Amino acid sequence: MAVRRAILIPVGSLEGTVVNLQFQRTRRNRGAAQWQFHFRTSWSIAVDRQRARVILLCHMTYTTGQIFPVQRICRMARDRGIETIVDGAHAYGHFPFKLTDLDCDYYGTSLHKWLNAPHGTGFLYVRKTRIAELWPLNPASEDLKANIRKFEQVGTHPAANHNAVAEALTFHDTIGGERKAARLRYLRDRWLDRVSNLSGVTVRTSRDPQQSCGMATVSFEGRDIAKLVSQLWDRRRILVTSIGRDDFQGIRVSPGIQTTLEEIDTFRTTLETLLRVVR
Ligand SMILES: Cc1ncc(COP(=O)(O)O)c(C=O)c1O
Repeated sequence: MAVRRAILIPVGSLEGTVVNLQFQRTRRNRGAAQWQFHFRTSWSIAVDRQRARVILLCHMTYTTGQIFPVQRICRMARDRGIETIVDGAHAYGHFPFKLTDLDCDYYGTSLHKWLNAPHGTGFLYVRKTRIAELWPLNPASEDLKANIRKFEQVGTHPAANHNAVAEALTFHDTIGGERKAARLRYLRDRWLDRVSNLSGVTVRTSRDPQQSCGMATVSFEGRDIAKLVSQLWDRRRILVTSIGRDDFQGIRVSPGIQTTLEEIDTFRTTLETLLRVVR
């Protein structure tokens, strides 16, 4: 008999991502039910009500840069025998944390985002006791049943990307995770302090260091977001991400450690100018 597993996903965290697509497929093929609930809902109440067997959550959402209280949620889930899958695409290399502190069962991340490793690199963590029961997407030898390497059986692949991860890690460690996060917050605050005071602007990202780092999202009353995004690119080659959610439309700004103060100031002044003309 197929086990119907309820999967809980917080609203506004994974919509449109490849991770969510994977879960939609699971729902179609295996009959698992999927619920979404608002971040502000009590997690334990939502979990008990839906008899969740799995919780899928983001470490940091791509829409606002909100950092989720992953450790608290994973411990609550473990107490109830629920498995936890964490999408850390925007977390790893962005702000410091220890994977073991999170207490999750599965953690996946991209390394090309905040670690500056090449495209196509990432890592998967699976709690040791869960490896044997988890199917790899590609078949692996039975000898590897309880070995994490079974998830790497993808045939012949170029070593260059993989080897470059070591260089990216060395670069990251040379700077230091804490210093990098402090710099990213400094860059964010440099534009956000000014932009948040403009009329019609709503900041969608908390400034609490426990809840955010370098990315921030703002929305604008009565402005055409697509026009704003294209004008920033056309005028000054500034790339921001357009965010469209049910509750707001806005732009997400994601400086990197290579971003200069001059570039931040150019963004800020260009945005101020555009807000006077774009409707
Ligand atoms: C939350 C989240 N998960 C997964 C992904 C997919 O990552 P990748 O670009 O490595 O395919 C993204 C991409 O932006 C994302 O924001």
